[in-house]
Amino acid sequence: MNFIQTSSDDGIATLTIDRPDALNAMNPTILKELTTNIQSAIDNPDVGVIVLTGSGDKAFIAGADIKEMSQMTPKEAYSFGHLGKNLADTIEHSPKPVIAAVNGFALGGGCEISLACHLRFASENAKFAQPEVKLGIIPGWGGTQRLPRIVGKGIATELIIGGHMIDAQEAHRIGLVNRVFSSDELLGETNAFAQLIIKNGPKAVAESLRCINESSERQLSDGLSHELNSFAQLFSTDETKEGLTAFVEKRPAEFR
Ligand code: COA
Repeated sequence: MNFIQTSSDDGIATLTIDRPDALNAMNPTILKELTTNIQSAIDNPDVGVIVLTGSGDKAFIAGADIKEMSQMTPKEAYSFGHLGKNLADTIEHSPKPVIAAVNGFALGGGCEISLACHLRFASENAKFAQPEVKLGIIPGWGGTQRLPRIVGKGIATELIIGGHMIDAQEAHRIGLVNRVFSSDELLGETNAFAQLIIKNGPKAVAESLRCINESSERQLSDGLSHELNSFAQLFSTDETKEGLTAFVEKRPAEFR
């Protein structure tokens, strides 16, 4: 099944995650499909900028697929986490800018995928959160490492251990998103900025991205491996089982 819609115009490849019945939540199939599509856009000489968005007007990505995670063993969680890490790494290390056009919920893994993008433009109805602790898990696709690097350690800690949602204006205030537009304007304005980038030297843009990444790379890779192990290990605990199952059963989780 095809969960990613692709279109290409004037050097801009737009990839749209298309699973509206689950608010574009990411399962292993979608993670693999999106990684393949991002890589194809990177390899395509006609593409200068990649835009990533979600279908519908409600969600960018409502996170990793909680229903599937609720059945995972630690080993399966590691493989799942690895697919997400691989996607986020592919985006972050793309020599072509990847812009997240966040058109609604960007929660958990959805927020983390946006963090791996080089720029985040949001619609006024966008909502961001790292709500994993509410499920008895932790971010597994880079959230504990990339969020502090973008918004600072204090605010990242607040968001990750609070698990609460923030709106687009607050995300803008803390530097999580670059720009906020009305829903109607989001894709048009994102494309306009992409056109601005396309006019710049592609090697200079690619080198800029590489240098910016390298400013934090060394410690980041250690941190990401540590995070992934920790993410997977939690799947052997009752707390994780309870948190994930409670969501699936549509009831509050009882951790204590
Ligand atoms: N994984 C799997 N399914 C998800 C999902 C996720 N992360 N997020 C939403 N869905 C599904 C819902 O289960 C529901 O499916 P159903 O109709 O088969 O029950 C469908 O998407 C619509 O979601 P619903 O909860 O009915 O919409 P809402 O507008 O009432 O609430 C959210 C929207 C985003 C607040 C709510 O869906 C939510 O909290 N999702 C989980 C977010 C999360 O914790 N993400 C991080 C995971 S690590």
